Amino acid sequence: MLSKRVNMIHPSPTLKITALAKKMRSEGKPVISFAAGEPDFDTPQKIKEAAINALNEGKTKYTATSGIPELKEAISRKLEQENGLKYSNNEIIVSNGAKQCIFNALLSLLNEHETILIPLPYWVSYPEIVNFAGAKYRLIGGDKNNKYKFSARTLRDSIDSSVKALIINSPSNPTGAVYSREELAEIAVVLRDNPQVWILSDDIYEKLIYTGERFTSILNVAPDLRYRTIIINGLSKSFSMTGFRIGYAAANPDIISAMERIQDHTTSNASTISQYAALYALSHPVDEIDKMKNEFSKRLNIMFEGLSSINGLIPIKPDGAFYMFTDISSFIGKKFRDNIIKSSEDFSLKLLENYYVATIPGLAFGTDNFMRLSFATSEKDIREGIEKIARFTSEIK
Ligand SMILES: Cc1ncc(COP(=O)(O)O)c(C=O)c1O
Repeated sequence: MLSKRVNMIHPSPTLKITALAKKMRSEGKPVISFAAGEPDFDTPQKIKEAAINALNEGKTKYTATSGIPELKEAISRKLEQENGLKYSNNEIIVSNGAKQCIFNALLSLLNEHETILIPLPYWVSYPEIVNFAGAKYRLIGGDKNNKYKFSARTLRDSIDSSVKALIINSPSNPTGAVYSREELAEIAVVLRDNPQVWILSDDIYEKLIYTGERFTSILNVAPDLRYRTIIINGLSKSFSMTGFRIGYAAANPDIISAMERIQDHTTSNASTISQYAALYALSHPVDEIDKMKNEFSKRLNIMFEGLSSINGLIPIKPDGAFYMFTDISSFIGKKFRDNIIKSSEDFSLKLLENYYVATIPGLAFGTDNFMRLSFATSEKDIREGIEKIARFTSEIK
């Protein structure tokens, strides 16, 4: 009955865990959740007020599909001042979250027989959007000794004439790894040798880098790749505005107008009210952002120390984003109360059912021997949750 296309999309592997965690919570169980994919901070008050003002001023109607000109100008200014990248209004589109930008971009780019390279581990929606486009993906494995970032050499080995595009996601979800200038420069050399390859640069966690280094985009080291690069960004993570659903893309006018055509016939413009809130966020200093980042940085260290002290767990220390991807392979195949732990999903389920701690199994990101913990949760929950994880793992024999 259902179309072939929809049957190519798999349900989110995180659903089982998050649904169970919700159910347990509604039954009154004291669930600690490390599953969140969004900041736990409230949206800054001034941004909320900008949305309220938009409503009161009657800014409640359709806008141009690609967004209000003032917001596109603010994005253009942001890209120039913060990233050193110049884009004019016809090279920018505002969408319902970065997710829609990625969807529009991949549907604009990929034909059925073409392949896109997705770094492993990956953000859960990349492969599914490629499936939806009816195209193919090939996973490029990261270097275990370099926070699972892929190297220029692996990239070169993975590219053939069927490859049309590459995704770069720095800082990465789920590892938090950040590509350095040098690494990007080496990657750019390979991309120069393969002019058919487009680059989708997902910069959504750009503002959440804890090493003191500035964010570097592939275009900062290789401006010559500009025509075939699509920059993806948004306000969800950086301004704690996930529910506003504002993302944006910057690219050459041909690709932007193709993306606009898709958006014309799917959602039209992103919420008008949210666009005005985003305009405020991008045009004013927002103090809360630095506070949020400092808080994340503090929690990162608490979580990293806690997890590192548990025998058998190997967390990857993230340089950005708010996730800790943690190797649990030493527990797979072992017993917890007479049941064998067969997979990362099994590990996460048993941890949730018995110790009320929710994590996302690595399988969701294409790597079964891991779990992802989000530190977008309170320090108190981090400490308590880690204590419970320690008790859980001590029972695995
Ligand atoms: C790597 C990555 N890209 C894009 C998105 C989409 O963000 P949004 O659609 O909320 O802007 C997310 C959200 O989890 C993400 O983790």
